[in-house]
Amino acid sequence: MTDDLARRFAFHARIYAGDGGTNSSPLYAALSAAIANDPAILALVQHADRHTQVSNLLFAAVHDLLLAGADHLLRAFYASLTQNPGLPAEAYPVFRAFCLQHATAITERVATQRVQTNEVGRCSTLLPAFGLVAQCTDNRPLALIEIGASAGLNLHWDRYGYDYGSAGRVGDPAAPVQLVCWVEDSAHRLPISGVMPMVVGRIGIDLHPITLDDPAATRWLQALIWPEQTDRARLLEAALATARSHPVTILAGDAAERLPDAVAQLPTEATLCVYHSYTLNQCPPPVRTAILQAIDTLAQTRPLWRVSLEWFAGQPRPQLELYAPSNGAARSIRLAECESHGRSIAWQHSDV
Ligand SMILES: C[S@@+](CC[C@H](N)C(=O)[O-])C[C@H]1O[C@@H](n2cnc3c(N)ncnc32)[C@H](O)[C@@H]1O
Repeated sequence: MTDDLARRFAFHARIYAGDGGTNSSPLYAALSAAIANDPAILALVQHADRHTQVSNLLFAAVHDLLLAGADHLLRAFYASLTQNPGLPAEAYPVFRAFCLQHATAITERVATQRVQTNEVGRCSTLLPAFGLVAQCTDNRPLALIEIGASAGLNLHWDRYGYDYGSAGRVGDPAAPVQLVCWVEDSAHRLPISGVMPMVVGRIGIDLHPITLDDPAATRWLQALIWPEQTDRARLLEAALATARSHPVTILAGDAAERLPDAVAQLPTEATLCVYHSYTLNQCPPPVRTAILQAIDTLAQTRPLWRVSLEWFAGQPRPQLELYAPSNGAARSIRLAECESHGRSIAWQHSDV
Protein backbone atom coordinates (compact mmCIF):
# COMPACT_ATOMS: atom_id res chain seq x y z
CA MET A 1 0.00 0.00 0.00
CA THR A 2 2.66 2.49 1.08
CA ASP A 3 4.88 1.27 -1.76
CA ASP A 4 2.16 2.13 -4.26
CA LEU A 5 1.77 5.61 -2.76
CA ALA A 6 5.54 6.10 -2.74
CA ARG A 7 5.69 5.17 -6.43
CA ARG A 8 2.93 7.66 -7.21
CA PHE A 9 4.73 10.51 -5.46
CA ALA A 10 8.01 9.59 -7.17
CA PHE A 11 6.20 9.57 -10.53
CA HIS A 12 4.52 12.91 -9.86
CA ALA A 13 7.81 14.44 -8.76
CA ARG A 14 8.90 14.00 -12.39
CA ILE A 15 5.60 15.41 -13.74
CA TYR A 16 5.81 18.47 -11.49
CA ALA A 17 9.44 18.97 -12.51
CA GLY A 18 8.05 19.09 -16.06
CA ASP A 19 9.03 21.51 -18.75
CA GLY A 20 8.13 24.84 -17.17
CA GLY A 21 4.57 24.64 -18.59
CA THR A 22 1.31 24.71 -16.68
CA ASN A 23 1.84 21.23 -15.23
CA SER A 24 5.14 22.25 -13.60
CA SER A 25 5.70 23.21 -9.99
CA PRO A 26 9.27 23.35 -8.65
CA LEU A 27 7.91 23.36 -5.07
CA TYR A 28 5.68 20.30 -5.59
CA ALA A 29 8.46 18.51 -7.50
CA ALA A 30 10.86 18.90 -4.54
CA LEU A 31 8.20 17.98 -1.96
CA SER A 32 6.93 14.93 -3.90
CA ALA A 33 10.41 13.46 -4.21
CA ALA A 34 10.89 13.72 -0.43
CA ILE A 35 7.36 12.48 0.45
CA ALA A 36 7.99 9.32 -1.64
CA ASN A 37 10.56 8.32 1.02
CA ASP A 38 8.62 9.42 4.10
CA PRO A 39 6.12 6.85 5.51
CA ALA A 40 4.79 9.32 8.12
CA ILE A 41 3.56 11.69 5.41
CA LEU A 42 2.41 8.92 3.06
CA ALA A 43 0.23 7.70 5.96
CA LEU A 44 -1.81 10.91 5.72
CA VAL A 45 -3.13 9.84 2.31
CA GLN A 46 -3.39 6.09 2.87
CA HIS A 47 -7.23 6.23 2.79
CA ALA A 48 -7.47 8.49 -0.26
CA ASP A 49 -9.50 7.28 -3.23
CA ARG A 50 -6.93 5.47 -5.39
CA HIS A 51 -8.62 6.67 -8.57
CA THR A 52 -7.70 10.24 -7.76
CA GLN A 53 -4.37 12.07 -8.11
CA VAL A 54 -3.29 11.53 -4.53
CA SER A 55 -0.38 13.99 -4.62
CA ASN A 56 -2.67 16.76 -5.91
CA LEU A 57 -5.11 16.00 -3.11
CA LEU A 58 -2.44 16.21 -0.38
CA PHE A 59 -0.93 19.40 -1.78
CA ALA A 60 -4.36 21.01 -2.17
CA ALA A 61 -5.24 20.09 1.44
CA VAL A 62 -2.07 21.80 2.69
CA HIS A 63 -2.50 24.80 0.35
CA ASP A 64 -6.13 25.14 1.45
CA LEU A 65 -5.14 25.35 5.12
CA LEU A 66 -2.53 28.01 4.28
CA LEU A 67 -5.02 30.00 2.15
CA ALA A 68 -7.47 29.80 5.06
CA GLY A 69 -4.84 31.57 7.17
CA ALA A 70 -2.87 28.84 8.97
CA ASP A 71 0.05 30.67 10.56
CA HIS A 72 3.25 28.71 9.87
CA LEU A 73 6.74 29.14 8.47
CA LEU A 74 5.61 27.07 5.47
CA ARG A 75 3.84 30.15 4.09
CA ALA A 76 7.26 31.54 3.16
CA PHE A 77 7.66 28.84 0.45
CA TYR A 78 4.39 29.52 -1.38
CA ALA A 79 4.44 32.05 -4.22
CA SER A 80 0.66 32.33 -3.79
CA LEU A 81 1.26 33.77 -0.30
CA THR A 82 4.52 35.69 -0.50
CA GLN A 83 6.33 37.76 -3.13
CA ASN A 84 9.77 36.17 -2.58
CA PRO A 85 9.24 32.49 -1.79
CA GLY A 86 12.01 30.39 -0.23
CA LEU A 87 13.93 27.82 -2.26
CA PRO A 88 11.93 24.62 -2.99
CA ALA A 89 14.97 22.53 -2.07
CA GLU A 90 14.79 23.90 1.50
CA ALA A 91 11.04 23.48 2.00
CA TYR A 92 10.66 19.83 3.01
CA PRO A 93 11.45 19.93 6.76
CA VAL A 94 9.03 22.85 7.18
CA PHE A 95 6.36 21.15 5.03
CA ARG A 96 6.75 17.94 7.04
CA ALA A 97 6.37 19.77 10.38
CA PHE A 98 3.24 21.51 9.07
CA CYS A 99 1.69 18.22 7.91
CA LEU A 100 2.29 16.50 11.24
CA GLN A 101 0.93 19.52 13.15
CA HIS A 102 -2.22 19.63 10.98
CA ALA A 103 -2.59 15.88 10.41
CA THR A 104 -6.26 15.75 11.44
CA ALA A 105 -7.35 18.62 9.17
CA ILE A 106 -5.33 17.19 6.27
CA THR A 107 -6.70 13.64 6.53
CA GLU A 108 -10.23 15.06 6.83
CA ARG A 109 -9.77 17.01 3.56
CA VAL A 110 -8.13 14.05 1.81
CA ALA A 111 -11.12 11.88 2.76
CA THR A 112 -13.85 14.36 1.75
CA GLN A 113 -12.52 16.60 -1.04
CA ARG A 114 -11.95 15.91 -4.73
CA VAL A 115 -9.45 16.98 -7.33
CA GLN A 116 -12.08 19.06 -9.10
CA THR A 117 -10.58 21.97 -10.95
CA ASN A 118 -12.39 24.50 -13.11
CA GLU A 119 -9.86 25.85 -15.60
CA VAL A 120 -11.13 28.97 -17.31
CA GLY A 121 -8.09 29.06 -19.66
CA ARG A 122 -9.66 26.16 -21.58
CA CYS A 123 -12.22 28.58 -23.00
CA SER A 124 -9.47 29.74 -25.41
CA THR A 125 -9.42 26.32 -27.00
CA LEU A 126 -13.19 25.80 -26.85
CA LEU A 127 -14.06 29.14 -28.46
CA PRO A 128 -12.90 28.32 -32.04
CA ALA A 129 -15.13 25.22 -31.92
CA PHE A 130 -18.15 27.28 -30.84
CA GLY A 131 -17.30 29.77 -33.61
CA LEU A 132 -17.35 26.92 -36.10
CA VAL A 133 -20.74 25.71 -34.86
CA ALA A 134 -22.14 29.25 -35.21
CA GLN A 135 -20.60 29.52 -38.70
CA CYS A 136 -22.16 26.20 -39.79
CA THR A 137 -25.60 27.21 -38.53
CA ASP A 138 -25.86 30.68 -40.17
CA ASN A 139 -24.90 32.32 -36.86
CA ARG A 140 -28.07 31.26 -35.14
CA PRO A 141 -27.81 31.83 -31.38
CA LEU A 142 -26.48 28.96 -29.30
CA ALA A 143 -28.08 27.16 -26.36
CA LEU A 144 -25.32 25.57 -24.27
CA ILE A 145 -25.18 22.53 -22.01
CA GLU A 146 -21.86 21.92 -20.28
CA ILE A 147 -21.33 18.42 -18.91
CA GLY A 148 -18.95 18.47 -15.92
CA ALA A 149 -19.37 22.21 -15.41
CA SER A 150 -17.84 22.25 -11.90
CA ALA A 151 -18.37 25.90 -10.77
CA GLY A 152 -19.70 26.84 -14.24
CA LEU A 153 -16.82 29.15 -15.15
CA ASN A 154 -16.55 27.78 -18.69
CA LEU A 155 -20.22 28.49 -19.34
CA HIS A 156 -19.35 32.21 -19.55
CA TRP A 157 -16.85 31.96 -22.41
CA ASP A 158 -18.66 34.67 -24.43
CA ARG A 159 -18.07 37.15 -21.58
CA TYR A 160 -14.27 36.89 -21.74
CA GLY A 161 -11.64 38.60 -23.91
CA TYR A 162 -9.26 36.52 -26.08
CA ASP A 163 -5.87 37.29 -27.56
CA TYR A 164 -4.68 34.77 -30.17
CA GLY A 165 -1.63 36.81 -31.14
CA SER A 166 -1.31 37.30 -34.90
CA ALA A 167 -4.45 35.14 -35.42
CA GLY A 168 -6.53 37.93 -33.89
CA ARG A 169 -8.57 39.05 -30.92
CA VAL A 170 -12.13 38.15 -29.96
CA GLY A 171 -14.50 39.35 -27.27
CA ASP A 172 -14.53 42.23 -24.86
CA PRO A 173 -11.02 43.69 -24.41
CA ALA A 174 -12.19 45.29 -21.14
CA ALA A 175 -13.63 42.09 -19.63
CA PRO A 176 -12.09 41.14 -16.25
CA VAL A 177 -11.12 37.74 -17.70
CA GLN A 178 -8.54 38.11 -20.48
CA LEU A 179 -7.16 34.91 -21.99
CA VAL A 180 -4.02 34.62 -24.07
CA CYS A 181 -3.56 31.61 -26.34
CA TRP A 182 -0.58 30.94 -28.56
CA VAL A 183 -1.57 29.59 -31.98
CA GLU A 184 0.98 27.04 -33.10
CA ASP A 185 2.20 27.12 -36.71
CA SER A 186 -0.24 25.19 -38.79
CA ALA A 187 -1.26 24.79 -42.41
CA HIS A 188 -4.81 25.65 -41.32
CA ARG A 189 -6.08 29.04 -40.18
CA LEU A 190 -7.77 29.29 -36.78
CA PRO A 191 -11.47 29.97 -37.58
CA ILE A 192 -12.02 33.05 -35.44
CA SER A 193 -13.83 35.98 -36.99
CA GLY A 194 -13.57 38.62 -34.29
CA VAL A 195 -17.32 38.30 -33.76
CA MET A 196 -18.40 36.46 -30.62
CA PRO A 197 -21.06 33.78 -31.24
CA MET A 198 -24.36 34.72 -29.60
CA VAL A 199 -25.53 32.67 -26.61
CA VAL A 200 -29.22 32.71 -25.65
CA GLY A 201 -29.28 29.97 -23.03
CA ARG A 202 -26.79 28.09 -20.88
CA ILE A 203 -26.95 25.39 -18.23
CA GLY A 204 -24.43 23.07 -16.58
CA ILE A 205 -24.55 19.56 -15.15
CA ASP A 206 -22.12 18.26 -12.57
CA LEU A 207 -21.98 15.34 -10.16
CA HIS A 208 -20.82 17.80 -7.50
CA PRO A 209 -21.45 21.43 -8.52
CA ILE A 210 -19.26 24.01 -6.77
CA THR A 211 -21.36 26.66 -5.05
CA LEU A 212 -20.09 30.13 -5.88
CA ASP A 213 -21.24 31.71 -2.62
CA ASP A 214 -19.50 29.10 -0.46
CA PRO A 215 -16.07 30.59 0.39
CA ALA A 216 -14.66 27.21 1.44
CA ALA A 217 -15.69 25.66 -1.90
CA THR A 218 -14.15 28.42 -4.03
CA ARG A 219 -11.02 28.51 -1.84
CA TRP A 220 -10.62 24.79 -2.61
CA LEU A 221 -10.54 25.67 -6.34
CA GLN A 222 -7.70 28.12 -5.55
CA ALA A 223 -5.96 25.50 -3.42
CA LEU A 224 -5.84 23.14 -6.41
CA ILE A 225 -3.76 25.64 -8.42
CA TRP A 226 0.00 25.15 -8.10
CA PRO A 227 1.37 27.95 -5.84
CA GLU A 228 3.73 29.31 -8.52
CA GLN A 229 0.86 29.82 -11.02
CA THR A 230 -0.27 33.17 -9.71
CA ASP A 231 -1.63 34.17 -13.15
CA ARG A 232 -4.03 31.20 -13.09
CA ALA A 233 -5.07 32.14 -9.55
CA ARG A 234 -5.86 35.70 -10.67
CA LEU A 235 -7.85 34.43 -13.67
CA LEU A 236 -9.82 32.12 -11.39
CA GLU A 237 -10.74 35.04 -9.08
CA ALA A 238 -11.85 37.16 -12.05
CA ALA A 239 -13.89 34.28 -13.52
CA LEU A 240 -15.56 33.59 -10.16
CA ALA A 241 -16.56 37.27 -9.95
CA THR A 242 -17.98 37.14 -13.51
CA ALA A 243 -19.94 33.98 -12.71
CA ARG A 244 -21.35 35.51 -9.52
CA SER A 245 -22.64 38.47 -11.54
CA HIS A 246 -24.37 36.18 -14.07
CA PRO A 247 -25.93 33.27 -12.16
CA VAL A 248 -26.34 30.09 -14.17
CA THR A 249 -28.08 26.88 -13.13
CA ILE A 250 -25.82 23.87 -12.60
CA LEU A 251 -27.90 20.73 -12.22
CA ALA A 252 -26.51 18.25 -9.70
CA GLY A 253 -26.21 14.65 -10.78
CA ASP A 254 -24.92 12.30 -13.42
CA ALA A 255 -25.00 13.81 -16.90
CA ALA A 256 -26.65 10.75 -18.45
CA GLU A 257 -29.61 11.22 -16.13
CA ARG A 258 -29.83 15.02 -16.06
CA LEU A 259 -29.46 15.77 -19.79
CA PRO A 260 -33.25 15.67 -20.50
CA ASP A 261 -33.86 18.10 -17.58
CA ALA A 262 -31.15 20.41 -18.88
CA VAL A 263 -32.42 20.55 -22.46
CA ALA A 264 -35.98 21.19 -21.25
CA GLN A 265 -34.78 24.50 -19.76
CA LEU A 266 -33.26 25.84 -22.98
CA PRO A 267 -34.93 27.69 -25.88
CA THR A 268 -36.03 25.27 -28.61
CA GLU A 269 -35.30 27.60 -31.53
CA ALA A 270 -31.56 27.99 -30.72
CA THR A 271 -28.73 25.74 -31.94
CA LEU A 272 -28.17 23.14 -29.22
CA CYS A 273 -24.51 22.73 -28.32
CA VAL A 274 -23.40 20.20 -25.70
CA TYR A 275 -19.78 20.33 -24.58
CA HIS A 276 -17.40 18.86 -22.06
CA SER A 277 -13.76 19.38 -21.15
CA TYR A 278 -11.65 17.04 -19.03
CA THR A 279 -14.77 15.23 -17.89
CA LEU A 280 -15.34 12.13 -20.04
CA ASN A 281 -11.67 11.22 -19.63
CA GLN A 282 -12.31 10.99 -15.88
CA CYS A 283 -15.44 8.87 -16.13
CA PRO A 284 -15.25 5.08 -15.81
CA PRO A 285 -16.01 3.47 -19.23
CA PRO A 286 -19.65 2.47 -18.38
CA VAL A 287 -20.42 6.03 -17.22
CA ARG A 288 -18.82 7.50 -20.35
CA THR A 289 -20.85 5.13 -22.54
CA ALA A 290 -24.08 6.04 -20.72
CA ILE A 291 -23.42 9.79 -21.20
CA LEU A 292 -22.69 9.34 -24.91
CA GLN A 293 -25.85 7.24 -25.31
CA ALA A 294 -27.91 9.94 -23.56
CA ILE A 295 -26.46 12.51 -26.00
CA ASP A 296 -27.31 10.25 -28.97
CA THR A 297 -30.86 9.85 -27.66
CA LEU A 298 -31.20 13.62 -27.36
CA ALA A 299 -29.84 14.02 -30.89
CA GLN A 300 -32.79 11.96 -32.18
CA THR A 301 -35.14 14.69 -30.95
CA ARG A 302 -33.35 17.80 -32.29
CA PRO A 303 -30.11 18.68 -34.11
CA LEU A 304 -27.28 18.66 -31.63
CA TRP A 305 -23.64 19.75 -31.88
CA ARG A 306 -21.12 18.35 -29.44
CA VAL A 307 -17.74 19.88 -28.63
CA SER A 308 -15.29 17.57 -26.88
CA LEU A 309 -12.03 18.73 -25.27
CA GLU A 310 -10.57 15.64 -23.64
CA TRP A 311 -7.25 13.93 -23.08
CA PHE A 312 -7.79 10.19 -23.30
CA ALA A 313 -5.11 7.63 -22.47
CA GLY A 314 -2.71 7.12 -25.36
CA GLN A 315 -3.28 10.55 -26.91
CA PRO A 316 -0.14 12.70 -27.06
CA ARG A 317 -2.01 15.89 -26.23
CA PRO A 318 -5.57 16.99 -25.38
CA GLN A 319 -7.83 16.75 -28.43
CA LEU A 320 -10.54 19.17 -29.55
CA GLU A 321 -13.26 17.47 -31.57
CA LEU A 322 -16.59 18.49 -33.01
CA TYR A 323 -19.50 16.11 -33.53
CA ALA A 324 -21.85 17.57 -36.11
CA PRO A 325 -25.42 16.40 -36.76
CA SER A 326 -25.57 14.37 -39.96
CA ASN A 327 -28.70 12.46 -40.98
CA GLY A 328 -29.42 11.23 -37.47
CA ALA A 329 -25.82 10.15 -36.78
CA ALA A 330 -23.04 12.39 -35.45
CA ARG A 331 -20.13 13.13 -37.82
CA SER A 332 -16.87 13.44 -35.91
CA ILE A 333 -14.41 16.17 -36.97
CA ARG A 334 -10.99 16.40 -35.39
CA LEU A 335 -10.24 20.10 -34.91
CA ALA A 336 -7.08 20.66 -32.89
CA GLU A 337 -4.52 19.56 -30.34
CA CYS A 338 -4.34 21.81 -27.29
CA GLU A 339 -2.28 22.59 -24.22
CA SER A 340 -4.09 21.28 -21.14
CA HIS A 341 -4.86 24.70 -19.64
CA GLY A 342 -5.61 26.42 -22.95
CA ARG A 343 -2.28 28.21 -23.34
CA SER A 344 -1.82 27.01 -26.93
CA ILE A 345 -3.70 25.43 -29.80
CA ALA A 346 -2.57 23.62 -32.94
CA TRP A 347 -5.49 23.92 -35.37
CA GLN A 348 -5.69 20.91 -37.70
CA HIS A 349 -8.86 21.33 -39.65
CA SER A 350 -9.50 23.12 -42.92
CA ASP A 351 -13.21 22.92 -43.63
CA VAL A 352 -16.46 21.55 -42.24
C1 LIG B 1 -11.68 17.88 -14.11
S1 LIG B 1 -13.25 18.61 -13.80
C2 LIG B 1 -13.32 19.66 -15.24
C3 LIG B 1 -14.23 20.81 -15.03
C4 LIG B 1 -14.38 21.73 -16.24
N1 LIG B 1 -15.03 21.03 -17.33
C5 LIG B 1 -13.04 22.28 -16.68
O1 LIG B 1 -12.54 21.88 -17.76
O2 LIG B 1 -12.48 23.10 -15.96
C6 LIG B 1 -14.40 17.31 -14.20
C7 LIG B 1 -15.81 17.62 -13.69
O3 LIG B 1 -16.70 16.62 -14.18
C8 LIG B 1 -17.62 16.29 -13.16
N2 LIG B 1 -18.15 14.95 -13.48
C9 LIG B 1 -17.49 13.76 -13.43
N3 LIG B 1 -18.31 12.75 -13.80
C10 LIG B 1 -19.51 13.31 -14.09
C11 LIG B 1 -20.77 12.77 -14.51
N4 LIG B 1 -20.95 11.45 -14.69
N5 LIG B 1 -21.80 13.62 -14.70
C12 LIG B 1 -21.63 14.96 -14.50
N6 LIG B 1 -20.46 15.51 -14.09
C13 LIG B 1 -19.42 14.70 -13.88
C14 LIG B 1 -16.79 16.37 -11.89
O4 LIG B 1 -17.60 16.50 -10.75
C15 LIG B 1 -15.92 17.60 -12.17
O5 LIG B 1 -16.54 18.79 -11.73
